[in-house]
Amino acid sequence: MNKTIMRIRKNHLLLFAIPVLVWACQPEKKSEPVSYMNDPHSFSNPEQVSVRHLDWEAFIDFDSKVISATATFDLTFHSKADTLILDTRGLNISGVVSGEEQVPVLLGSSHPIFGQSLSIPVNPDHPTVSIRYETSPDAGALQWLTAAQTAGKSHPFLFTQSQAILARTWIPLQDAPQVRFTYSARVKTSNGLRVLMSASNPDQPDSSGFWSFRMNQPIPSYLMALAAGNLEFRPIDHRSGVYAEPEVIESASREFSDTGKMITAAESLYGPYLWDRYDILVLPPSFPFGGMENPRLTFATPTILAGDKSLVALVAHELAHSWSGNLVTNAVWDDFWLNEGFTVYFEGRIMEAVYGRDFAVMEQTLSFNGLKETISELGPDHPDTRLKLDLAGRDPDEGVSDIAYEKGANFLRVCEREAGRERWDAFLKDYFTTHAFTSVTTEQFLDFFNRKLIAGDTALAGRIDAETWIYKPGIPQNAVVYQSEKLMEVDKQVAGWASGTPSNKLNTASWTTPEWLYFLRQLPHDQRNSRMAELDKAFGFSRSGNSEILAEWLGHSIDVGYEPAKPVLEAFLMKVGRRKFLKPLYEKLASTPEGLEWALKVYSKARPGYHFVSVNTIDGILKFTP
Ligand code: BES
Ligand code: ZN
Repeated sequence: MNKTIMRIRKNHLLLFAIPVLVWACQPEKKSEPVSYMNDPHSFSNPEQVSVRHLDWEAFIDFDSKVISATATFDLTFHSKADTLILDTRGLNISGVVSGEEQVPVLLGSSHPIFGQSLSIPVNPDHPTVSIRYETSPDAGALQWLTAAQTAGKSHPFLFTQSQAILARTWIPLQDAPQVRFTYSARVKTSNGLRVLMSASNPDQPDSSGFWSFRMNQPIPSYLMALAAGNLEFRPIDHRSGVYAEPEVIESASREFSDTGKMITAAESLYGPYLWDRYDILVLPPSFPFGGMENPRLTFATPTILAGDKSLVALVAHELAHSWSGNLVTNAVWDDFWLNEGFTVYFEGRIMEAVYGRDFAVMEQTLSFNGLKETISELGPDHPDTRLKLDLAGRDPDEGVSDIAYEKGANFLRVCEREAGRERWDAFLKDYFTTHAFTSVTTEQFLDFFNRKLIAGDTALAGRIDAETWIYKPGIPQNAVVYQSEKLMEVDKQVAGWASGTPSNKLNTASWTTPEWLYFLRQLPHDQRNSRMAELDKAFGFSRSGNSEILAEWLGHSIDVGYEPAKPVLEAFLMKVGRRKFLKPLYEKLASTPEGLEWALKVYSKARPGYHFVSVNTIDGILKFTP
């Protein structure tokens, strides 16, 4: 790690409003990491004193939708600090103990996105603090599901989603990805349901009903995760398995049976898997993401259970985060592409190793087309089309777009193309090993890249042009463009269909999911309802058990004004809370006055069943005020 003695500190009196930067030269301290960037999304002061270990004891009350907990922290002092500053949002704090003394609860003023600072007087002679608190029933990270929202319909369910800055809505902590800590936890529920965390998970509770957890590898706060529900476990192999409701466990374990192969492929690319176990928890359909890389326990949407493993790239993706993201973490959210761009690149390599190059290239072609669309919507000069973002003062959720993911991955593919796979893979492995269990800024990456990959090869540097990729908007000239023969075949069928070939005469027999998605995306928009009905009759899109294909069909139906799709669309919007599907569907609906009116009607019924993350986005699209 490139160590610097310059540190950036925040003036916490001014809170988030104008982060006044005070530069101070300080000698290097023994404790790691030596330097912290200013993080505009956290009030915390890790450069002075940081949390090293969290011990969490919690009671989950499903009746009141409240978690009552005590969070006890071990601290590391980096300077003569007398105050520890934590992030909180909406927590009801009843007591704080520092060392052995009860101290006052000192909360800063409240910001709707960033929450409130909690300042705790601390003493290096007694480097622990303990906070007793309750979460609020509308805590942003938590989703409390009724029994009706689950597969089994008989037990409620709770899950968390902490990334990017929602961990502070259920635990007071230094909610900044630069701060790593280990944790232990003891958790009990009001109704005896099984509890899981992003940690070692026990088979059973202890005699008093508490489930015990340990995460021995230091992790950033956004990887804190918890779920409770009627959950069963099914092993896949010696180090991986699936947790799901009993109604889903069978299909989930069949769908994910290649997980062991994926882990082996990933290890042979970029080094050993350092988190011991890799399990997958299948959540109810309101989970707002496809997947979340919670360490040791990926959280996944059930919408990837297509029955034919065709959507398991998501597992490859979340698994890849065990290196890019969880092992080597973006220092601040402006560096988000270091998490996601690297992960999409790595995901593609795992997919290629396990399912072959043709399939991987089709997926990459579809994603690259999506990137081009995103850039043309934002405009090629938009600052948010740069890899290195500037999210100060904004919700870091605004940085979640194809840019970090697909532009980031394309940049790495350019590096691979120009350096050659062997040299590039050796570099990436070195990057992960050298920076394991630390956070990295874009500039630290670039420095390592220049020293280790470029190493004086100015021709290579010129061919890659990393600075343009990272700091300039749009898609650079030297991007990797894709040629998928399989998709060119699909183009021919689309052309045939557009010129009148009946759907059931198209040559689709060997198609897999990417081909179907590509087909639906290429269809002309000026078609009559009768042709839509004929398409659906031939291919059964509206009954598809493949959520990607169904969502694509529903989106296309909105585009062409195909009214008969409305009941299926409504059912989909009522059931699925995955933002990636909801966002384009509501956007398309909102583009006409009648569509918007219909969308608002459905949304007002569906909204209580969505997670905060999705609600936050869809409220904005529909300009909905509750
Ligand atoms: N870490 C992300 C999800 C995330 C990003 C949550 C930013 C909150 C803020 C996860 O790894 C992810 O990228 N999920 C994708 C998966 C897909 C790209 C395979 C998703 O949910 O669609
Ligand atoms: Zn990801």
